[in-house]
Amino acid sequence: MAITITVNGRRHTVAAPDDTPLLYVLRNELELNGPKFGCGLGQCGACTVHLGGDAVRSCLIPVSAVKAPVITIEGLGTADKPHPVQAAFVAEQAAQCGYCINGMVMSTAALLKRTPKPSENQIRAALDGNLCRCGTHMRILRAVRKAAGTPV
Ligand code: FES
Ligand code: FES
Repeated sequence: MAITITVNGRRHTVAAPDDTPLLYVLRNELELNGPKFGCGLGQCGACTVHLGGDAVRSCLIPVSAVKAPVITIEGLGTADKPHPVQAAFVAEQAAQCGYCINGMVMSTAALLKRTPKPSENQIRAALDGNLCRCGTHMRILRAVRKAAGTPV
């Protein structure tokens, strides 16, 4: 079935079964590989994108259910003009293998849009569903605080 979705400001019509996960469409049809396939079960956060401004797990959302604009990390900033969250993650070198980081950045960007000066508890709650197997957590937390302009 032909389904039209808006991703990073561009409309796309894709031919896909209704229940195809948004993540598959982003990666396989639109060649947006920023959202990562981690678990495919909604348990790791590697696939996080924004849907209507909210951080969501694109592996769990059927493409036919997408009714609001989608932003992937490719639409957040560029190498020349990074989003403040991206800049903070680079400044703090908040990655080891990096596989979880795009999801971390997307969850953080959604948090700071909603809550520009989050408390430590709010930061930890917002990132609770984003898993990092490398143990980069302390650097990630420093990057989030830097992006929020609170003490690192
Ligand atoms: Fe979507 Fe893990 S791949 S939550
Ligand atoms: Fe490797 Fe987080 S940096 S999983």
